[in-house]
Amino acid sequence: MKLLIDDANLDEIRRLYDLYPIDGVTTNPSILSKTGRNPFEVLREIRAFIGKEADFHAQVIAKDAAGMIEDAHAIVKELGEGTYVKIPCVPEGFKAMKSLKKEGILTTGTTIYTSMQAYLAAKSGASYTAPYINRIDNMGYDGIRVAKEIQDIFEMHGMETQILAASFKNSQQVLELCKYGIGASTVAPAVLDGFVNNIAITGAIDVFVNDFEKINGEGATMSTAKK
Ligand code: E4P
Repeated sequence: MKLLIDDANLDEIRRLYDLYPIDGVTTNPSILSKTGRNPFEVLREIRAFIGKEADFHAQVIAKDAAGMIEDAHAIVKELGEGTYVKIPCVPEGFKAMKSLKKEGILTTGTTIYTSMQAYLAAKSGASYTAPYINRIDNMGYDGIRVAKEIQDIFEMHGMETQILAASFKNSQQVLELCKYGIGASTVAPAVLDGFVNNIAITGAIDVFVNDFEKINGEGATMSTAKK
């Protein structure tokens, strides 16, 4: 499963890239607005940092197909041809996806709350579909079940479209999809840090270090211990 960062704060993106095996970055208009800066400036900086080979998803704003297509052209022009253009899975969005597919522009069907949205996005030529796991849960439905159902539909019908699961609140939600063979998940920095934020883990490491220091002195490591 590919692992992407759902954030536009470059300091956070740099920190997470430094620590973890990250495949790319996703943004949406709300995430971009949190930076308080020009969206294209921010997006260009992220692209420059992650490199042109990394997965990068940026969303259109226009609500009609013609406008979405123009937004897609602007996104690809500024961020490179390999950029995935996120398009909401609504009727005008499917129209835009079909047209962009013919142009060879990569798309990600987003704002997915139902399996049939993903089915239509896949048939319209989207490379990825993004079910909103936690937002579905918040509505009283089961986001994990929706994502698994989409995966089953894609496999059953031999569709090449992948899932880019989004909107996570915790590690357990990501784990459930990892176990199911979902193609990609995008997670906020706090959720990603939460994968390994456990006092049992740090406690175990502290015991190892303390035991080593008992024989080798305080602050000793394998590189500094007497050979
Ligand atoms: C990604 O495509 C979505 O825009 C994002 O993951 C939504 O996350 P949220 O529900 O935490 O805002």
